[in-house]
Amino acid sequence: MTRASIQPPPAARFPDFVSRRMDLHYVTRIAQLLGGEHPHAWQPRPADAVFLAGNDYLCLTGEPALVGAQMRALQHSQGEMLMSAVYLQQGSAQHRLERRLARFMGAEDGVLAQSGWAANVGLVQTLAAPGVPVYLDMQAHASLWEGVQSAGALPVPFLHNDMDHLRRQLQRHGRGLIAVDALYSTNGSIAPLAQLADIAEHSGCMLIVDESHSLGTHGPRGAGLVAAQGLGGRVHFRTASLAKAFAGRAGFITCSSHFKGYFLSESRPAIFSSCLLGHELAWFDAAIDFIAAADDRRAALRRHARALREDLGALGYNVSDGSEQIIALEPGPEPKTLALRKLLEQHGVYGAMFCAPATPKNRSLVRLTLNSGLDRAQLARIVHACEQIRDAAGVEHWSSTRRLRRLALV
Ligand SMILES: Cc1ncc(COP(=O)(O)O)c(C=O)c1O
Repeated sequence: MTRASIQPPPAARFPDFVSRRMDLHYVTRIAQLLGGEHPHAWQPRPADAVFLAGNDYLCLTGEPALVGAQMRALQHSQGEMLMSAVYLQQGSAQHRLERRLARFMGAEDGVLAQSGWAANVGLVQTLAAPGVPVYLDMQAHASLWEGVQSAGALPVPFLHNDMDHLRRQLQRHGRGLIAVDALYSTNGSIAPLAQLADIAEHSGCMLIVDESHSLGTHGPRGAGLVAAQGLGGRVHFRTASLAKAFAGRAGFITCSSHFKGYFLSESRPAIFSSCLLGHELAWFDAAIDFIAAADDRRAALRRHARALREDLGALGYNVSDGSEQIIALEPGPEPKTLALRKLLEQHGVYGAMFCAPATPKNRSLVRLTLNSGLDRAQLARIVHACEQIRDAAGVEHWSSTRRLRRLALV
């Protein structure tokens, strides 16, 4: 026993209502369904493996300019205030950064949150009220759904990117909020943002667009898809996780300065959780400049996504649901998806298994997230791996493949 450790006492017993839930995880799912293997536990990763499970799309991690800015901030962090963002004074470093980031996205102002999760939950919770309908694309991120629950509002799902279904739901339930992702996190599909803005205006709804997977990677100087389509004035709020292309840990919401004052006294994650630290702000401050100048990396990411989608499509994989840097290989049932993930790993390609609650129960998938730094050999290796495992993974019999065949017949 080391000096710093003490012997733990025997664990206190859990009541049945907890242990039954835990059994569903450990016994029913892991032991019985997945043969004792955890869906997210990778096999040991060789040094030359192609890792496609991170969200650092533009390869910012370790960039000397950003690391230097963060180190300088840490060296001057003495006396830093650890407190809720509601106590930050006008002109504070966080407020200055919020203004800069907002301008980068073509918005008046903004609020930094501790994470993309906190941004979405806090925003929806401050806008919706009990009984207010919130129209959510069925593939919208879980944090938007969580915000609806936290507001006690009425979640009204609509089929993925199906504007006719959204209109029908609006006719039934009336005015409220519409919440979508600009670029969907499981399959790389893009929302029809201009149509959504039309529908929101026509129905008197507010529109929230989560740009987590498009901020930095899409749009002029990385300003996102809303900016790319000139919709900044028609989308009420844009949110983003800064743990993707910005490679840090925070979330962001664009808004007016007027709304910001209200948000900071209403949003529970903003009030009851501490603000960001100086070195985190310094990272993002440097990242804005870096990302704005990263057209070459954005172009490389786009090239890789196009090329890989084309090659995988030619091999018979159904990648038709999406178009961008997130590519889903979708066997469907969890055991088949686990088998696929492991087969890919045997060929040196490491993706992330996405399963319930991140996908519907029988639509689990292996997600490949690309980054700008992939080279030709790595891209070729991914294609080669997908070719080699095709039969063993049973691609012919996946429900997503059958869907593709049906589409081809129409
Ligand atoms: C679309 C989307 N929104 C929000 C989040 C939450 O972001 P964070 O990881 O910063 O909490 C994620 C992260 O998975 C995401 O993919």
